[in-house]
Amino acid sequence: MINILKKKKNLIVGLNSGTSVDSLDMAVLEINRSRNGYSIKYVCGKEKKFPAMIKNGILAMTDNLNPSLDDIIYLDNILGLFISKSVNNFILSLKMKNLQVDAVASHGQTIRHLPGKVKKFGKSINGTMQIGSAEYIAQRTNLPVVSDFRQADIAIGGEGAPITTGAMHKLFSSSENQNLIINIGGMSNYFYLPNKSSSENSLASDCGPGNVLSDLLMRKFYSREFDKNGKIARSGLISKRLMTILNADLFVHGKQKSTGREQFGPVTVDKILKYSKKLKLSPEDILATTVEFTVFSIFQAIQGLIKKKKIAKLYLTGGGRKNIFLVERLQSYLPNCQIENIDSEGIDGDFVEAAAYAVMGEAALQGKSLRLLQNNKLKPVYGKISLPPEKV
Ligand SMILES: Nc1ncnc2c1ncn2[C@@H]1O[C@H](COP(=O)(O)OP(=O)(O)O)[C@@H](O)[C@H]1O
Ligand SMILES: [Mg+2]
Repeated sequence: MINILKKKKNLIVGLNSGTSVDSLDMAVLEINRSRNGYSIKYVCGKEKKFPAMIKNGILAMTDNLNPSLDDIIYLDNILGLFISKSVNNFILSLKMKNLQVDAVASHGQTIRHLPGKVKKFGKSINGTMQIGSAEYIAQRTNLPVVSDFRQADIAIGGEGAPITTGAMHKLFSSSENQNLIINIGGMSNYFYLPNKSSSENSLASDCGPGNVLSDLLMRKFYSREFDKNGKIARSGLISKRLMTILNADLFVHGKQKSTGREQFGPVTVDKILKYSKKLKLSPEDILATTVEFTVFSIFQAIQGLIKKKKIAKLYLTGGGRKNIFLVERLQSYLPNCQIENIDSEGIDGDFVEAAAYAVMGEAALQGKSLRLLQNNKLKPVYGKISLPPEKV
C-alpha cells in the first residue's frame, strides 16, 4: 500500500516544465488531510535549467511538424533520466532539512498540444502529448509518481487544458475576495477564482502567446534565450502596421480554451519576420511590437471579465512577470487595476504551476477529483500512477 494513504500530512514534490522549455521547476508542498479539513503549505521551490542538448532536442521536436517516432521514444527516456536526477538532488536537499518526501507529481514536457478536434481516421478527435518517463522517476526516486494529468480531460471531451483550475482554487481562493491570476509562461493564461463561499464557478482559459514569440526572436536576432527585463523591446518602437497584421491572429478564447506552440510559435514568428522585412523594421521594433501583441492578447482575454466582476487587483505568475517592460505595457491597458506579483501571497511565482501539479498528484493518490464543474455525476481523477519498486 502506498504510504501516503496512511498519513494525514504528506510532502509532495510537483514538477513542471512549460512551453518555454527553460527549466524543470520543482515545488514542495505540505498537504494536510485531517478530520478538521484540508490545508496546503508551500514549503519551497527550486529550478533546474535544461542542458542545451536537451532543450534543443525538445524544441527540435515541438517545432517540427513531423518528428521521428524513434526520437520521441528516446527523448521520453532521456527526460525521465534528467528529471529523476534533478528531483533526487532536490529530495536530498530536503532530507537535510528533515523533510521526507512522500510522492512526486510530474507534468512532463508537452511536445504536441492538439486541442481542437479534427477529422482523422473517420472520426472527430483531438489530443495532447507530454513526455518525461514517469517510470524512470518512480524507479529512481523509490516514490510513487503521478503523471500524464491531461489525458483524463481529453478522454472526457476536454481540450487537455486548462486542467489546474481545481488545484489553483485550492491554492489561491480566498474567503474574502475573488482573485484573478494571470500566468505568463510560454503561453499566457488566466484563472478567475471566486471567493470560497461563493456559488460562482471558477473560470480559466489561455489568453494566447506569452513569452514564446519574444524568446524565439531573441534566439534568432541575438542568440539569447530571452529578453532580460524586456530591455531590448523597450528600446524599440511599436509598429502599428505590424500590430494590425498580428491582431488578425488573436486567440479567440471562448471558442477554444487552450493553445500552444503549434499556433503561437515558429509559424507566427515566420509571419512576423515576413512582414517586418516589408515594413523595414529593426530587431528592436520587432521585439517591441511582439511584446505589444502578447500584452494585447492578454488584455483582450481578460477585459470583459475585469469589467463584469469589477476586479480591482490581479496577480501575475510565470517568468513573464519579470519582464518589466511587458508588465508596464499591460498596466497601461489596465489603468484602474492594481497589478501585483503572486509572490506577495507567500508562494514564489516561478513555482505556481509545479505547486498546482503537487496538489493534483496528492488528489490522484487519494482517488479524489479536483474538477470543479461537473456535467455528470462521475468526476474524473487526473493523472496516472507509477509505483516504486517493492521493498524486500
Ligand atoms: N528577468 C526576466 N526578464 C524577462 N523575461 C523573463 C525573465 N525571466 C524569465 N523570463 C521569461 O519567462 C520565460 C519562462 O517562463 P515560465 O513561467 O517558466 O514559462 P513556461 O511555464 O512556459 O516554462 C522565459 O523563457 C523568459 O521569456
Ligand atoms: Mg518554465
